[in-house]
Amino acid sequence: PLPASVTIVEVGPRDGLQNEATPIPTATKVELIERLAAAGLPVVEATSFVSPKWVPQLADAAQVLAQVLPRPGVRYPVLTPNMKGLENALAAGSREVAIFTAASEAFNRANTNVGIDDSLRRLADVAAAAQAEGVTVRGYVSCVVGCPYQGHVPPQEAARVAQALDQMGCYQVSMGDTTGVGTPASVAAMFEACTKVVPVSRLAAHMHDTYGQGLANILAALQLGVATLDASVAGLGGCPYARGATGNVATEDVVYMLEGMGVAHGVDLPALLGAADFVCGALGRASGSRAGTALARR
Ligand code: HMG
Ligand code: MG
Repeated sequence: PLPASVTIVEVGPRDGLQNEATPIPTATKVELIERLAAAGLPVVEATSFVSPKWVPQLADAAQVLAQVLPRPGVRYPVLTPNMKGLENALAAGSREVAIFTAASEAFNRANTNVGIDDSLRRLADVAAAAQAEGVTVRGYVSCVVGCPYQGHVPPQEAARVAQALDQMGCYQVSMGDTTGVGTPASVAAMFEACTKVVPVSRLAAHMHDTYGQGLANILAALQLGVATLDASVAGLGGCPYARGATGNVATEDVVYMLEGMGVAHGVDLPALLGAADFVCGALGRASGSRAGTALARR
């Protein structure tokens, strides 16, 4: 049976915008985040406290957080790759952070300059420091089924890294198919391995739609009981360190599918379409959401 209800984690303002080359005004980011929250998304990943040399688009992270209005019941987590990021996030008032590593050694070196086990040691310090401040920590594992450098990633390796993040006290570990190469078969095998070592209630699916497999992969995750789904409004996104990575699965497409399947999600689809329209207009591009495009034509 599928979960009766799911939590959608909106990652567009972070995973989506981090990949945009043209600078986006802070006010545009803030309005996008607020529209997404107003549409009923309970978690909107707002920005990243990463090196501005690596991701110049998100150099205004502190300003974004300062300007977003708090909204009851909505959380605005931010990415913090290291202690410096955590310190900056705490100074900006963050109460929830996300740390990230990968199930692929080569990708980890490209994305963060260190191998998996070194990154886990560093992240353990970041997680402990955050928890000491009462700040909630989410973990991400990238390249959970495939990697642009190394190819196939064994399910046991994804599960090993997920377990390490879980044992650091991450309240949830989000499994990322960074380059969207997975299919329902590889995604199911990966989640089956993970659920042997981390309770399924603490796992999330973070699927990119590069090969058009995003919704199918999400369905595979749902069928194994995964009830937290990451998605990006208008399918914005990608990863600057993964060639060919396009956006996350579009939030509108996920909502449309859940709606049709009778799975509760709490999102107001018309308001979400409004947020998508807003950001596509600001970026001057068409939506990457199939459902959004079809609904707009009606
Ligand atoms: P480092 O080890 O300090 O080394 O950073 P560095 O040489 O890259 O540092 C460069 C400069 O950045 C130094 O300044 C640092 O002090 C500074 P300089 O001394 O040259 O003046 N710096 C920072 N500044 C502000 N905030 C910070 C920070 N850290 C260093 N936090 C690090 C290593 C990982 C931090 C760096 O490489 C970095 O920020 N990389 C960007 C990684 C990134 O943002 N990737 C995309 C997000 S992950 C993702 O998208 C995947 C996900 O969606 C899941 C999926 O799809 O699978 C989550
Ligand atoms: Mg991603």
